[in-house]
Amino acid sequence: MSLDQNLDKILIVDFGSQFTQLIARRIRELGVFSEIISHKKIEIKDINKRVRGIILSGGPLNVYQINKYSFDKKILDLSLPILGICFGHQILSKLNGGKVKQSKHREFGLANIYKKKDSLLTKNFFGTKKTKQVWMSHADQVSKLPLNFKVIASSTNSKFAIVENKYKKFFGIQFHPEVTHTESGKKLISNFIFLICKIKRNWSSKDQKFKLIKEVQTQVGTNKVICALSGGVDSSVVAQLLNKAIGKKLYCIFVNTGLLRKNEEIQVVKTFKKRLKINLTYVNAEKEFLSKLKNISDPEKKRKIIGNLFIKIFERYAKKIKNVSFLAQGTLYPDLIESRSVTGSQTSKIKSHHNVGGLPKNMNLKLVEPLKFLFKDEVRKLGLELKLSNEIISRHPFPGPGLAIRMPGIITNEKIKILKEADHYFVRALKDHGLYHKIWQAYAALLPVKTVGVMGDNRTYEYLCLLRAITSEDGMTADFFEFKKSFMQTISNRIVNSIRGINRVVYDVTSKPPSTIELE
Ligand code: XMP
Repeated sequence: MSLDQNLDKILIVDFGSQFTQLIARRIRELGVFSEIISHKKIEIKDINKRVRGIILSGGPLNVYQINKYSFDKKILDLSLPILGICFGHQILSKLNGGKVKQSKHREFGLANIYKKKDSLLTKNFFGTKKTKQVWMSHADQVSKLPLNFKVIASSTNSKFAIVENKYKKFFGIQFHPEVTHTESGKKLISNFIFLICKIKRNWSSKDQKFKLIKEVQTQVGTNKVICALSGGVDSSVVAQLLNKAIGKKLYCIFVNTGLLRKNEEIQVVKTFKKRLKINLTYVNAEKEFLSKLKNISDPEKKRKIIGNLFIKIFERYAKKIKNVSFLAQGTLYPDLIESRSVTGSQTSKIKSHHNVGGLPKNMNLKLVEPLKFLFKDEVRKLGLELKLSNEIISRHPFPGPGLAIRMPGIITNEKIKILKEADHYFVRALKDHGLYHKIWQAYAALLPVKTVGVMGDNRTYEYLCLLRAITSEDGMTADFFEFKKSFMQTISNRIVNSIRGINRVVYDVTSKPPSTIELE
């Protein structure tokens, strides 16, 4: 297991909660480094001097399913403060001699908790009303407290909503302080890390910038690095960071697949080559991609063809650069966390994601992954510190296979041209109406059906354009964005009136799940 050895941190032991990453984010938002490790991977030797406190996450398990999780009880003897959240609270109680059983009333959603006793954990949390609204999500609960534990707060259904063993600095919370639905939940986390673990602030984008530049310089030395630049947030930040760290020893390659958004290739070259003076090779591979994709309509085949060809072209150009030793990638912390499927259930593969990002393993290059400890919002802040424009930093995500997966059915030059225009009009309208930044991702798609319309006095028979705009935290779940009728009228008129080939516009009103964000 590779933990960052250089910073004091709060270690989060993940038992499979959907909110584990949120705990880490909240701590980092408070200016402190935190790392997540799966309960299956944690070993007592990993808990070095840098670990100042431990949080046990929630999870879908029951504490009596002891063969389904592992947790070395010796961790409790390290004299470190421990905060258990939901399942973490239950396991902490059980390991200390308490009891857990199925709740009479399962609690999902909002509940009120009432203060019973003062605690450092709840300092300035309750206020004069001595009650707070919190978000519960549990079927089991602690039924008997271990020795030396005291009740700090209770709800109607959970007597032990917050508990503590003051001497050992062990705390248990039955609800989820990390979710925004819990009123002032961040205060509890802040009290735990600052008042109880006594850790100092050590995490900000400015610190990160200098630290990462130094780390890259140390890792790379005088060697050359190549980087696949897509123009998206992650690869742009990696490229700019390396540019600052090693200048002309960085070689970026930007492949135009022909499936990019309108004018994207022009913008990327302008920004990175001309403005930021990054060593950039522009590869126009439009024809190659389109000929390989000819008559292919199966979404998985499209993704595979694009992914494989991308790698081939990248390798072809990378070979032209002599004596390269490193490959830079925009791997982020969520990609790295080793706690995937901590309950043992493999999430089934829904589609071959991120295949374009998966660069060749057999290139004999060492990896440079400077963002591997950062969340997306931290990468954005770092990008701004690195003087990348807000326009690059706050762009909506764009999938590697690009417009290919926004055009079900076969791909033709005509369809690409129409779709690029429609997407361009949609995104421009969102920006003009101040909506772009309220939306997590938005795009136009072209459906492989033609419908009848009437324009002027003529009958038309043209493509159907689908608009998708969603709100989301991380792309894992999503809801459709609610536009005003006037905006929808404006955009549908603009698209139909300005683009030859489309005579009807529809809006996608499905959430994820059951749909996905992309169409294919
Ligand atoms: P879905 O469609 O699975 O998309 O709900 C979730 C997020 O991932 C993006 N996406 C991809 N990104 N390569 C990528 O780099 C891919 O193959 C890919 N497929 C989907 C999608 O745009 C959304 O942000």
